[in-house]
Amino acid sequence: MGPINLHEFEEAAKRKLNKLAYDFIAGGVEDELTLRANREAFNHFVLLPRVMIDVSSVDTSVQLFSRKLDFPIFIAPTGGKNLVLPNADETVAQAALNSKTVICTATGTQKILEEGKPLLWWSNSTGQPNKAAAASYARRVEDQGGKAIVLTVDNAYQSNRDRNNRNRFDYGYMQTGVPKPGDPPQPPRNPARPAMWQPHTANLTWDYIDWVRSASSIPIILKGILNPIDAGLAVQRGASAISCSNHGGRQLDGAIGSLDALPDVVDAVGGKIPVLMDGGIRRGSDILKALALGAKGVLVGRSPLWGLAAYGQPGVERVLWMLGAELKLAMALAGIRNTAEIDRKIVKKLG
Ligand SMILES: Cc1cc2nc3c(=O)[nH]c(=O)nc-3n(C[C@H](O)[C@H](O)[C@H](O)COP(=O)(O)O)c2cc1C
Repeated sequence: MGPINLHEFEEAAKRKLNKLAYDFIAGGVEDELTLRANREAFNHFVLLPRVMIDVSSVDTSVQLFSRKLDFPIFIAPTGGKNLVLPNADETVAQAALNSKTVICTATGTQKILEEGKPLLWWSNSTGQPNKAAAASYARRVEDQGGKAIVLTVDNAYQSNRDRNNRNRFDYGYMQTGVPKPGDPPQPPRNPARPAMWQPHTANLTWDYIDWVRSASSIPIILKGILNPIDAGLAVQRGASAISCSNHGGRQLDGAIGSLDALPDVVDAVGGKIPVLMDGGIRRGSDILKALALGAKGVLVGRSPLWGLAAYGQPGVERVLWMLGAELKLAMALAGIRNTAEIDRKIVKKLG
């Protein structure tokens, strides 16, 4: 029998992937405190289900940027999909299309877009170094049909990932995939040194939002907000939405678990823009908790990759289907008929 839940998808994927690729995807930064905190946070909140409500029909749809989406579940940006399969970005994009969900991606959508398929995509970027480049990027995304820019704001530097350092992981593999037995020998490009002080977009500031706004009206979602001060600034500086996220525990170790951060972030935003969240979502009831604490939707990062590694495109679709089905059932069992009815009254913080 195939996997019956997302945890089993990870096990199935682990059996198929080489260690280097599995560790790259599964791993977090340094001691993986934040990676674990993402999952543990779901134990800090419990549901208070309502009963005696007619839940014979349950509607999981949400409205986001004036668009109705069947489920509040979106595919997070994940670089390095080629470690799983060649053309993985394309395969995941096709799965997103079939599942009618949003995919955040920088590459791999091109072929599907050229075929004129109605892919719902948000373009992910860590930012461009100056106004001209940011404006031209925003224009390009809008022209190509991208529905939003997801600006990753917690990625100023390459973080220090022990598993990758131990495996002598070469970031070049993210493009090429991991060499297989029989491939011509390659000199190791990472001489087992911790990856320290490798800038991505180290000069990124709030001005970036103005740079995008000067060129395009496309929504800009800031991904990687944990501090309520930043959540407030995001609203003030004109972000269209934020994702409460610690990059799946892959950037700053010791940062708060995403779900633990969510209530204060939501309060700081005060309903002015949608708040998404990502990190540690593995069950429909996890999504229900996130929505109850004020998220409009969730992004999932590793789980679609486990589906991809285990069964290719059908695996990604199965993962998305499973999460959606679990969410619908969790809503029904909590006495909730539609996403508009979900609020903080159905969740309680322990301790
Ligand atoms: C293999 C991998 C690559 C990732 N690459 C990116 C990236 O390029 N940009 C980004 O904003 N986040 C990236 N992330 C973080 C995810 O977008 C997301 O925040 C995180 O995976 C959510 O946690 P989850 O994996 O528990 O669902 C990556 C995550 C993984 C696992």
